[in-house]
Amino acid sequence: MFRQRRLLWFWVGFGALVASLWFARPADRAALPLSDAEDRYFSNLQATLRRVSGLPCAAIDLDRLDHNLKQAQSALSSEQRLRIVVKSLPSLGLLRYILQKTGTRSLMVFHAPQVPLLLRELKDLGSIDVLLGKPAPAEAAYQVISAYPDAAQQVSWLIDDGNRLSAYREVARKTGRVLSVSIELDVGLHRGGIRSDEELRTMISQIAAAPSELRFAGFMGYDGHVPHAPGLPKKSALHTALVEVQTRYQHFVDVAKAAQPDWFSASSRKLVFNSGGSRTLPMYAGLPTVVNDLAMGSGLLRPASFDDEALAAFLPALWLAVPVLKKQAEPPLPFLDGMWGLLRLWDRNLAVGYFLYGGTWDAPIVYPTGLRAGWFHDGPIRNLLPNQQLLTGSTRVVAEVGSFVILHPREADNFAALSDLYAIRNGQVEAHWQPLSVLN
Ligand SMILES: Cc1ncc(COP(=O)(O)O)c(C=O)c1O
Repeated sequence: MFRQRRLLWFWVGFGALVASLWFARPADRAALPLSDAEDRYFSNLQATLRRVSGLPCAAIDLDRLDHNLKQAQSALSSEQRLRIVVKSLPSLGLLRYILQKTGTRSLMVFHAPQVPLLLRELKDLGSIDVLLGKPAPAEAAYQVISAYPDAAQQVSWLIDDGNRLSAYREVARKTGRVLSVSIELDVGLHRGGIRSDEELRTMISQIAAAPSELRFAGFMGYDGHVPHAPGLPKKSALHTALVEVQTRYQHFVDVAKAAQPDWFSASSRKLVFNSGGSRTLPMYAGLPTVVNDLAMGSGLLRPASFDDEALAAFLPALWLAVPVLKKQAEPPLPFLDGMWGLLRLWDRNLAVGYFLYGGTWDAPIVYPTGLRAGWFHDGPIRNLLPNQQLLTGSTRVVAEVGSFVILHPREADNFAALSDLYAIRNGQVEAHWQPLSVLN
């Protein structure tokens, strides 16, 4: 009697376990379709890419890029200039398109060896002006200026401290060129640059003492900390942080002006006061500021990690497309062959395997719906086959060998990992670009 009761409890418990496991089954991810418009958008994109490529490639939607360029420009006053961040948009074809579309000729460069290539290749557009986004070692500046002497003036060489200034004076002496220099200000990011009035006055007087070697071009004070300002409501915390940046910036400009009023006179060459980035540029619309030069790169393509509210009016315009190389019903997994069947019974998203041409792509999959990476999504086994990444999905996933899986890259420059960048408008490839090699 007692034994029978125990057996009964065992079966009740077992039944409850099986039932709860069954009810906890993951939903079929392919059952959450995209909207009709999105589905049409991605299936057209896929069809266009299949006509030109069977290999992993990146696609830029030119209509969306145009829209984003207009958004960026509309945030600027007539006194302000848009500066394009090369490191986030590393393709000559893409940069040329953006410069032509916007009319700006201002670039921000982070890797000095790219300077001669950019100045040479984009020369036909008119005089390109380059501001460095981080200081280049003086040796690199020397190499660039020796190879391309116009870079002494066309580039505003970024100076973050007194040692760098002395090293650049030496470059000026050795190359016999007057170097255009921009002073980096710490406006709150604390990544380097001038922090005190004293430091700034010293640097200004050192530049003033070397007119045959150095020419003051302006300031660069990046506000990259602003999007991370703590406080609620978030929007007003960011606004307060941005206003503080303007106050600091204005203060440094006043200190420099008091030391060298001539440099700031209407008759002298216009000084560049740069700040901003994708996450803050839209917030400058209507903001009282001394900043007359605003940088933007990533936001123009609005990759996945740029889902900030400030960029709400910007559209995702960059996709990575990776073809399905192999499709396997009930794909086995090494060492787990037996278990796998059981798991598949439980999770219908493991029914079909798709091996991609390449991997591992750390980017959200946007098309087709229902695919996911590796085993149990973000589980401990991310990928056993890095050059042929395994995705799985239910039998409802619409993908075949040769069709593209479309990913939304987290960063704009992720396309640089691929050799082909297709610029698409109205379902047609309008241009075929290559990324800039990091070796340039
Ligand atoms: C100095 C500077 N300006 C601007 C930017 C903004 O670049 P993006 O618009 O691509 O975020 C950066 C990004 O690192 C930067 O370091």
